[in-house]
Amino acid sequence: MITVLTGSSAGIGAAAALDLANRGHQLVLVGRSSERLDGVASAVERASGSLPETFSADFASFDDVRRLAERLRDRHERIDVLVNNAGMMTLKREITADGHEAMMQVNHLSPFLLTNLLLDRVGRVVTTSSRAGRTGALDPGDLSRERRRWSGWLQYGDTKQANALFTVALAARGVAATCIHPGVLRTGFAAETFFMTLVHRVPGMGEPVEAGGARLAALADQEGESGRFYHKDRIVNVPARMSDPVLAAQLWEASLTAVGL
Ligand SMILES: NC(=O)c1ccc[n+]([C@@H]2O[C@H](COP(=O)([O-])OP(=O)(O)OC[C@H]3O[C@@H](n4cnc5c(N)ncnc54)[C@H](OP(=O)(O)O)[C@@H]3O)[C@@H](O)[C@H]2O)c1
Repeated sequence: MITVLTGSSAGIGAAAALDLANRGHQLVLVGRSSERLDGVASAVERASGSLPETFSADFASFDDVRRLAERLRDRHERIDVLVNNAGMMTLKREITADGHEAMMQVNHLSPFLLTNLLLDRVGRVVTTSSRAGRTGALDPGDLSRERRRWSGWLQYGDTKQANALFTVALAARGVAATCIHPGVLRTGFAAETFFMTLVHRVPGMGEPVEAGGARLAALADQEGESGRFYHKDRIVNVPARMSDPVLAAQLWEASLTAVGL
């Protein structure tokens, strides 16, 4: 089973990589920092006896994502599972060279582009969303919140809502796709925020990263129920903003335009 795992250089992705390797997946690790990726690849080799391939790409750049897709296509005629896990959260409003708010590009538009460029050879798609998507108020006509109030958490919520809607839209196209809230986990994620400071310091607020890695790995390892949102290890109903097929179709169209497909 060939599994491409983005955001595998740290956090939940790195933990999931070890878990998936132990489940016998042949891993293809994708991250931004090649140094950190090499460290995870060595840990996977120690755990499983085989060294995974690694590819680095910055999801803040569509050119990088296109190059990544080409290299993956050159190497693999078939990808059984694509795990879109790379993601970030920042309190600063940053616009990428491609002209999009950075979280929207890294968390949604780049995984959307990568998935579409690999779609003819991917068996199923698993995306790391978040319960933060419940607070999203995504407007397909204003993905970067240029015309609406901006805050880091509002924008992050929009991107995680987009992850859930992307899953719905993929399923509507007949692609096996699921997404997951992996739990609140003590990782390097959103390090500048008060909330994550509490998660790291207050006992019981967060879980060890391995818990989230195990949940993501378990979902990547199963067929799952296409189009559905998994909260940790069970399917839950989510608000219409994360499951409405009409909104999902509008987001798909807006995303095609945004990534230039
Ligand atoms: N932690 C939580 O409580 C929590 C809860 C719900 C959902 N999530 C979601 O879980 C996913 C993983 O987060 P995490 O907690 O594991 O955070 P993390 O420890 O910060 O790891 C994030 C991963 O994404 C990669 N990444 C970040 N920006 C990137 C970029 N511009 N281009 C390519 N890769 C990039 C990082 O690569 P580098 O190592 O190169 O930076 C790293 O591999 C995210 O989608 C996040 O939204 C997290």
